[in-house]
Amino acid sequence: MLNKTDPVIEVRGLCKKVKDATGELTILDEIDLAIDAGSSVAIVGASGSGKSTLLGLLAGLDSASAGSVRLLGRELTELSEDERAALRSGAVGFVFQSFQLMPHLTALENVTLPLELQGGIGTREAAARARRLLEQVGLGKRTGHYPKLLSGGEQQRVALARAFVTHPAILFADEPTGSLDAATGHAVIDLMFEMNRANGATLVLVTHDVELARRCDTTVTIEAGRLA
Ligand SMILES: Nc1ncnc2c1ncn2[C@@H]1O[C@H](COP(=O)(O)OP(=O)(O)OP(=O)(O)O)[C@@H](O)[C@H]1O
Ligand SMILES: [Mg+2]
Repeated sequence: MLNKTDPVIEVRGLCKKVKDATGELTILDEIDLAIDAGSSVAIVGASGSGKSTLLGLLAGLDSASAGSVRLLGRELTELSEDERAALRSGAVGFVFQSFQLMPHLTALENVTLPLELQGGIGTREAAARARRLLEQVGLGKRTGHYPKLLSGGEQQRVALARAFVTHPAILFADEPTGSLDAATGHAVIDLMFEMNRANGATLVLVTHDVELARRCDTTVTIEAGRLA
């Protein structure tokens, strides 16, 4: 169980290694990290340093080669893939670097989907909540668009709305402002910190955006798979 003062994420000795043609490649090496509930953390570092890999491991989307990750009081390495998915559902929102929207669903349907998967909410209320979020990210007039008809920045904002819609306890976002112009990026940053303030959501953000990193409580720097 998670006590109020326990970190929402606790990482010890986390390693990720993969086999490649030349042998074994170490992507993450002995990472130790603790993230407090309601805090905001920026993960920064050069391209290829391991940021997206770390984020995926923290969220239980990927499995580690060694070490432990406690997420919301549960040891992820002891859970099956289905159990990890159940833990994530509702509690965790994730914005991928590549957005990963469902191509055959409209913007509105993409944002509504996590609420439907979570259950306990009527179809109309779910759609209304999704529509409000799309309006907040400036896409009120694009709710019927399929992802391929949206620009990169618009897809990114749909992905953010999808991650926010369940009011997750933890929001993981991989370069959430990477495809946005300064004004839109600013609005999206405000929205994330609004979630942080209003819902006490913990923010774990991979970013190259100086403004975004500056607004976070702490910055974690990764250099070639190790904490700097
Ligand atoms: N499954 C995999 N197999 C082989 N190599 C991998 C795999 N996943 C990641 N890598 C390698 O691990 C390194 C770290 O990748 P990662 O995507 O975590 O970097 P990143 O810090 O997010 O970079 P960027 O800022 O460009 O997004 C890269 O060199 C990548 O090529
Ligand atoms: Mg990345």
